[in-house]
Amino acid sequence: MQVDIHKENPIILGIETSCDETAAAVICGRKLLADEIASSATTQALFGGVVPEIASRMHTDEISAVVARAVEKAGIRYDDIDAVAVTYGAGLLGALLVGLSFAKSFAYALGKPLIAVNHIRGHLAAAYLDCPTLKPPFVTLLASGGHTAILYTPDETKEEVLGGTLDDAVGEAYDKVARVLGLSYPGGPNIEKCIREGDGKPVVPMPKMLKGGGGYDFSYSGLKTAVINYCHTKEQKGEEYSKADVAASFEHAAIDVLVQKTMSAAKEKGVKTVTAGGGVVANGYLRKRLQEECDKRGYALVLPEKRYCTDNAAMIASEGLIQFRQGNFASLELNAKASIPLSASLRKETKGES
Ligand code: KG4
Ligand code: ZN
Repeated sequence: MQVDIHKENPIILGIETSCDETAAAVICGRKLLADEIASSATTQALFGGVVPEIASRMHTDEISAVVARAVEKAGIRYDDIDAVAVTYGAGLLGALLVGLSFAKSFAYALGKPLIAVNHIRGHLAAAYLDCPTLKPPFVTLLASGGHTAILYTPDETKEEVLGGTLDDAVGEAYDKVARVLGLSYPGGPNIEKCIREGDGKPVVPMPKMLKGGGGYDFSYSGLKTAVINYCHTKEQKGEEYSKADVAASFEHAAIDVLVQKTMSAAKEKGVKTVTAGGGVVANGYLRKRLQEECDKRGYALVLPEKRYCTDNAAMIASEGLIQFRQGNFASLELNAKASIPLSASLRKETKGES
């Protein structure tokens, strides 16, 4: 198959089905032409979290229509597509397989190359949707349901993980705390709503997140347990407590440490640009705090729009474009991977992995 990797504005179809969102997007160069998403989150909320089998079935029902809508809204013909980029991991295996099988058949039928996208790389590439001219060096905060990490990108070819998740990821802590407070899945947005019912002040004491936690690693299990213990003790004593106050106190503790460590990393590495990605980056308080601290220090902050922080296919197409330009194509033997360690997600190691 002949592929012109130097084509100025290639058209990439991105497909994402790693969890409960069935998503497809089309980009032309760095310009987003269409972005479609069908979510099973409302159904999943009835079960208090993502039920893998329900996710797989919803993807199977939705994938063809979602891709067709994306292509139609982009105003292109199928034949205009230069490559099909798809999430192959990490995620729910059955869910991944729906998107991956679809993408493989689609690429094969069109005679176009397939690009294997690591979901985490997609979250990192979402920043380019907001700022097509973004260039290293920069420091990135990755805050999702599976990862809390800080990365340093000195140039296009290298990356370094400065610190990562020691136990629960920050999004996971949001989801677990939400459950304890009787709020439905997904936890993050529902905790934000709950906070708005109070005055937003962090009046409930929470463990110090930086205590003994130098470096750039993150531990959220102590904070999560402190919230659970607080609520259970109140309930056992028959005492009332304000969910909004608990939620606000949790959020301040959870977010402040992300901002502090990101600023320390930017200072240590001497960069002038900070980026962020992952579902938790949709959080209003995190966005505001990052902006305030970056403004104080004169750093440029590149944040994807909220809808490109949570799972979507535009970020998969965005990462697909980077790989297209490197000529990094996958074979049709590509299989789905339920887990991929963060260290294996680094740019230099993903090259050739597919
Ligand atoms: O990046 P993502 O969509 O999926 C993963 O790749 O993990 O992240 C999902 C996580 C969930 O834990 C969800 O509660 C959290 O992101 N999240 C938020 C917000 N929106 C989603 N956390 C805090 N505030 C939000 N607004
Ligand atoms: Zn994600």
